[in-house]
Amino acid sequence: MEIAVVGSNMVDLISYINRMPTDGETVEAPDFHMGCGGKGANQAVAASRMGSKVLMVTRVGNDVFAENTINNFEKNGIDSKFVMRTDATSGVAPIFVDPQSRNSIIIVKGANAKLKPNDVEKARSEISKCKLIVLQLEIPLETVYATIRMGAELGVPVLLNPAPADPALSLENIRNCEFIVPNESELSLLTGMPVDTSEDITNAARMLLQSGIPNVIVTLGSKGALFVNSEGEKMFKADAQSAQNAVDTTGAGDAFIGCFSHTWVKTHDIEASIKAANIYAGDAVTKRGTQLSYATAEEVGLE
Ligand code: RIB
Repeated sequence: MEIAVVGSNMVDLISYINRMPTDGETVEAPDFHMGCGGKGANQAVAASRMGSKVLMVTRVGNDVFAENTINNFEKNGIDSKFVMRTDATSGVAPIFVDPQSRNSIIIVKGANAKLKPNDVEKARSEISKCKLIVLQLEIPLETVYATIRMGAELGVPVLLNPAPADPALSLENIRNCEFIVPNESELSLLTGMPVDTSEDITNAARMLLQSGIPNVIVTLGSKGALFVNSEGEKMFKADAQSAQNAVDTTGAGDAFIGCFSHTWVKTHDIEASIKAANIYAGDAVTKRGTQLSYATAEEVGLE
């Protein structure tokens, strides 16, 4: 295996709405899509569709959704031997996408909240053979910290996507990561610094650098991504056409991380990996659905 994703899986229940209801109001939405999601699973699927061999460590529930999620991993060529069943509901995510393609997401973690350090320990030997560990924050923080420690012990670099933002996340416990990939609001919460201007964003990213993480990549939606390391900072613009054609931005950040992880494992070239990830995420927003919008390397011209 090349990439180990230790993280969540959810069932995405996406309503395409004209507007959100107000208090006590019922409104009709024109369209709906149900599909596989969850930040961890999304990143695993994106990396796998790009061509990486991916191991998934996660927990599903004991309901009708579990089998479908496991089948989905297998259909996408992801090693699911550490997809464990739990006496809980599977994670679900009601999502609302407005006509401007912006999304609002509620997550109910369910089984994901039961993924414990011991579960990751069971996968230690497989993880030790990987070239990158990818983490997000839809599982307990103790599991995230234990996995970062495991990466350091095994000499396997760790990429942390600190999403969704969690005020309890401690910089001290994540400083051994090789990469941190927050969006603007996650960066602000992590550092306690403003992110209103490009200068603010760069300063906040520099603060993460000072905490010990050598590579900070801030995803900026339709603007692209900012990379900051000890040599300086560099902005990578997103494709303007994709932003104009956007219909659903759900899971775009996960598409970016899945493609970045795949490209970095193959090339160890961070800048080339960010460029590829911008193209991949830009393509994903032009299609509806979460994983449904993820292309293969061939489809997106990134072979
Ligand atoms: O990042 C998008 C994802 O966030 C969705 O797939 C949803 O499941 C939530 O985890």
